[in-house]
Amino acid sequence: MEIIFATNNAHKLSEVNAILGEGYTLRTPRDFDITEDIPETQQTLEGNARQKARYLYDRTGRDCFADDTGLEVEALDGAPGVRSARYAGDQHDFDANNVLLMKNMEGKENRRARFRTVICLILGGEEHLFEGIVEGEIIATMRGTEGFGYDPLFIPEHTGRTFAEMPPEEKNHISHRGRAVEKLAAYLHSINK
Ligand code: IMP
Repeated sequence: MEIIFATNNAHKLSEVNAILGEGYTLRTPRDFDITEDIPETQQTLEGNARQKARYLYDRTGRDCFADDTGLEVEALDGAPGVRSARYAGDQHDFDANNVLLMKNMEGKENRRARFRTVICLILGGEEHLFEGIVEGEIIATMRGTEGFGYDPLFIPEHTGRTFAEMPPEEKNHISHRGRAVEKLAAYLHSINK
């Protein structure tokens, strides 16, 4: 089965490829001459995932999916949430985002947070949503050098280490994105038996 994934990020592509397994060929927007940034202007992760998947479907008429992820911090009323990539500004700077998060969490007793990924699959024109969540907490200072984004500040529950202190396979196994993709894969396998 051939399916388009709304990403140009080689790392995400190989991660999803590994979870889907044999029998699926992932294509990217570039394979269909879609080189512009796909719009994501909605106020929710669900809205953005649907917007990106719809955009691809409208342009290609093919089966496709898109994901959107956010870090939701309880003490910050769910921020940075859908604005995770540009929390500290439109330059999408991971370090600046982490510095701002540490500042906004100063003195907060409730450190609970979660990463949430939403995937929107469009199959034969019909939409299906899948969600993956990992619960954890935000620490006061950054630890670790693996991963990206907020990984140095996030400790998934029951692990005692930040995502940035874990080898990629260990993170992928328990991560929000990994869990959402597992659900997508289970659904695709169930209909392609
Ligand atoms: P995207 O929807 O996958 O592009 O993620 C949006 C933003 O959420 C990224 O720019 C990162 O700031 C953050 N983010 C997403 N996934 C992760 C992760 O696995 N670790 C740390 N930060 C992440």
